[in-house]
Amino acid sequence: MWRLGLLLFGSISMGGCWGVHLQFSRVMKVRGRKDSALLRWGVDRHREQIALEVQVPRASWVALALNLERNLTGSDVVIGGWNGDTEIFYDAHIDSQWPPVRDNSQDYELLELRRNETHSTLRVWRKWFTCDPQDYDFEDCTTYVTAYFGESPDLRDGAENAFSKSIYFMEIKSEVQLPSELLYYDIKRDDFLIPEEDTTYACSFIPLPQVATKHHIVKYEVNIDPQSDGIVHHILIYACDANAEIVPEVGDCYGSDIRYSQCLNVMFGWAVGGEDFFYPEIAGVSIGTKYDPQYVRLEIHYSNFDGISGIRDNSGIRVSYTPELRQLDAGILMAGVLTFPIQFIPPGAEAFRSYGLCDTGMIPQSLDEPTGDLTAYAFLLHAHLTAHGIRLLHYRNGTHIGSLGEDKSYDFGFQQIRYFPKPIDIKMGDQIVVECTGSTMDRDSVTYGGPSSLNEMCLGFLFYYPNIPIATCWSFYDLNHVTDALGLEPEESVMDAIFSMDTVDWDDETRAKAQRAIMESNHTVVIQNRRWLLPLPYVPQAEGLGRCTSTW
Ligand SMILES: *[C@@H]1O[C@H](CO)[C@@H](O)[C@H](O)[C@H]1NC(C)=O
Ligand SMILES: *[C@@H]1O[C@H](CO)[C@@H](O)[C@H](O)[C@H]1NC(C)=O
Ligand SMILES: *[C@@H]1O[C@H](CO)[C@@H](O)[C@H](O)[C@H]1NC(C)=O
Ligand SMILES: *[C@@H]1O[C@H](CO)[C@@H](O)[C@H](O)[C@H]1NC(C)=O
Repeated sequence: MWRLGLLLFGSISMGGCWGVHLQFSRVMKVRGRKDSALLRWGVDRHREQIALEVQVPRASWVALALNLERNLTGSDVVIGGWNGDTEIFYDAHIDSQWPPVRDNSQDYELLELRRNETHSTLRVWRKWFTCDPQDYDFEDCTTYVTAYFGESPDLRDGAENAFSKSIYFMEIKSEVQLPSELLYYDIKRDDFLIPEEDTTYACSFIPLPQVATKHHIVKYEVNIDPQSDGIVHHILIYACDANAEIVPEVGDCYGSDIRYSQCLNVMFGWAVGGEDFFYPEIAGVSIGTKYDPQYVRLEIHYSNFDGISGIRDNSGIRVSYTPELRQLDAGILMAGVLTFPIQFIPPGAEAFRSYGLCDTGMIPQSLDEPTGDLTAYAFLLHAHLTAHGIRLLHYRNGTHIGSLGEDKSYDFGFQQIRYFPKPIDIKMGDQIVVECTGSTMDRDSVTYGGPSSLNEMCLGFLFYYPNIPIATCWSFYDLNHVTDALGLEPEESVMDAIFSMDTVDWDDETRAKAQRAIMESNHTVVIQNRRWLLPLPYVPQAEGLGRCTSTW
């Protein structure tokens, strides 16, 4: 413990109190087949350091592996343990298979290694970037984390004892002054029997608080039922529009009953390890007026890898709302690719990119009124199972000026709202390009856009203020240009043209042709019911402005 203390106080004396953030402020429980592991961490954005703690059932050694992909190969590993009475501690990596190999450069620092009758615990810290290619770079991306432990000194028994989870280490905590008059409302499950299956996406429709006058939602707090802690994996709330059909029972979000995939406007997303969400002090989400949604869809993702039966879940989101209105209404802009089969991904692709364009210059025209700039403070990325990278590129006057959110290791099972380090100004006229990179190596037919989880989507949600009455700003490309490039016969209807993709003999050459045509095509930007034909701006492939994009 004293070592951590030294680190904290040592850094205070170096000016400022940055080191204090290296507290283990986050905790996550991972439930495995028999036992569970606990991971704690804390980041210091200013000094670019991270502290990690892993606690496992009592063992002679414990290791933590980090990677961008769900793949052992290339993982960065830190190991602590005991060989008799001698402490073991080193920085390692996995070449191709377990066990790990010691790194030439030792970059982790030990804070603490201890064990008692029931648990073994390893605490370490490290810089985000070490310049050792065998180390993992901590970026604003989802990290695939595995805790290993065992008894054998050569670590060979480790592969049997492993807990894995996706984690976003870099979450920025939001905490602001709350109004004095605060009301609470729970959007939650009600004694839902968690199925024994590995993975369940359960959806239900729940009314928002019924208020006669305008109120502002100012905070979301996640309440996980202690019974299902470690099984509830992520939670999303989507706003329903007035036409949505409200189904009374809980159902499969992505099953055959498509009523459960209605309501696509994300309001909030939380994933394991995530924190409560506070709206910026200047803004809140309006409820209670005739323009506001009445219902939400609550989506909870359960990972029941133990196949435990009989767990009843009451998890959900507690909404805090207030009649003390804030200065501005908060809004959410959905940008990306129009969810429709015109989006397609050929089979056998390693990294096929889809593009959606939002030209905010069209927004004032579709509202028939001048619109001021928007301030974006958070984002949420959404695509389905083939996607492994999503980024929102920000353009002004044809120049790529920055990122509006990205994750180069996007995980469908881990969608969460993320704060920008600083709010970002979006001027009317700026363009937002949403790029999704998907892999279809394991598929043998074309993947089309659509709401089911086996179809694809490519969306970015921007949380901003002040609210403008626009929900979506997305696009689709000129399909004729793509079918021409592929040498397909012109079809009578759009649907025929879309499904003529099934007739293509997909190989490296045809995939490359399709990719090039998609990037050259003009896009039809759709804002509510208005459409504009626009070219896609030049999208940088290799370089970017964010750290994530530098190695994209
Ligand atoms: C893991 O990565 C290696 C090397 O990049 C690759 O050959 C292997 O197919 C990957 N395994 C999985 C399960 O993706
Ligand atoms: C053993 O260590 C764990 C983890 O630090 C702790 O939660 C537990 O209370 C300890 N047990 C005893 C008997 O001290
Ligand atoms: C884009 O460039 C034009 C012409 O140089 C300028 O008038 C306009 O203000 C610029 N727009 C933005 C958003 O910077
Ligand atoms: C895009 O639209 C412009 C203007 O209508 C047209 O000149 C151009 O050929 C189009 N590009 C493609 C690739 O279809």
